Amino acid sequence: MATPHVLIVGAGSVGRRHARNLAALGCTISAVDPRADRLREASSEVAVVGCYETVEEAFHVDRRSLTAVVIASPPRVHVDQALLALKAGLPVLLEKPVSPDLESCRKLERAARTASAPVLLGYTWRWWPPIADVKRLLAAKTIGTVRHVRFVMSAHLADWHPWERYQDFFMASREQGGGALLDESHWVDLALMFFGSPTSVTARVEKISDLEIETDDNVDMLLGYDNGLRISLHLDLYGRPHDKTIRFSGDQGTILWTADPNRVSVAHDAAGPWQETNYTCGRNDMFIAVAQEFLRVAAGKRKASCTLADGTAVLRVLEAARTSSAEGRTVRLTKARAG
Ligand SMILES: NC(=O)c1ccc[n+]([C@@H]2O[C@H](COP(=O)([O-])OP(=O)(O)OC[C@H]3O[C@@H](n4cnc5c(N)ncnc54)[C@H](O)[C@@H]3O)[C@@H](O)[C@H]2O)c1
Repeated sequence: MATPHVLIVGAGSVGRRHARNLAALGCTISAVDPRADRLREASSEVAVVGCYETVEEAFHVDRRSLTAVVIASPPRVHVDQALLALKAGLPVLLEKPVSPDLESCRKLERAARTASAPVLLGYTWRWWPPIADVKRLLAAKTIGTVRHVRFVMSAHLADWHPWERYQDFFMASREQGGGALLDESHWVDLALMFFGSPTSVTARVEKISDLEIETDDNVDMLLGYDNGLRISLHLDLYGRPHDKTIRFSGDQGTILWTADPNRVSVAHDAAGPWQETNYTCGRNDMFIAVAQEFLRVAAGKRKASCTLADGTAVLRVLEAARTSSAEGRTVRLTKARAG
């Protein structure tokens, strides 16, 4: 098979990570970024055969040799860039969230249905081995019926990209699609992956810290399910030390997932003991797993395991959370409608 030639759109933090991983997997890399310094940095890490300011320019010059596109730009431009790639018949690995709003996400989902090329959505925690193990433990009813789940994602924004002022990072900008709700929608995606869509959403989406940003830095959300399950999510951009944990309480015990330590713990009785499984996987492993899946999806060898429909389901919840917060009420979600 010919060497895949992948266009990386957005040569920032995650775009360059995808470029390094795909290059290590044998791909030829080209890149798009309006910032020349970002393209230079990408070129210093891997051999970049084509550097462009826009996707349009890249397609104009190089469409015939390209075989796939990774979209790792700020969320504001995801949908337009994905539409261009699909129109060109190229498979897309799209970074999360699909878009800042539900309407444009649905527009892309509709277009993708009739496109000749597939889309893989990058809610990458799905590829994290301990999370996959938690999914198996839940499916095996290890803690019986799950009654409550508590997600916490707390990480000070200034620690995310030490090489730049957080005020200049897209996360600080409402227009670019930053903020805790959109960016940390990973955890909403995992909630939906484990338990499906909720029927009610109650949320506060706020800016409460001294961070110099125009986006939300604090989200507290309660998802309700008709079977009685309750899921609470706390997402913030000011916490130190960072905390990424998920605690599942069932009627026969508890599963606790923690990112640091890298561990899944299970206990069945009031005093424990906790059965701990420790992991040695590193953060880049999930991105390598995503890249490997993407190459197989792009080659038509398998279906995408995380789809635009998953991205739409997440955005329905995020939009309900915004409405709940703005109007101070619980929002009921009806059964998901197609497109
Ligand atoms: N899956 C994950 O775990 C994960 C991790 C980090 C980031 N992300 C997602 O990846 C995306 C990028 O995040 P990041 O942390 O790499 O941000 P970043 O700011 O480091 O990189 C974004 C890059 O896009 C460039 N850019 C801006 N406008 C563009 C345009 N119109 N076309 C092409 N490039 C453009 C910027 O110059 C910048 O270099 C976001 O959607 C973010 O949520 C996902």
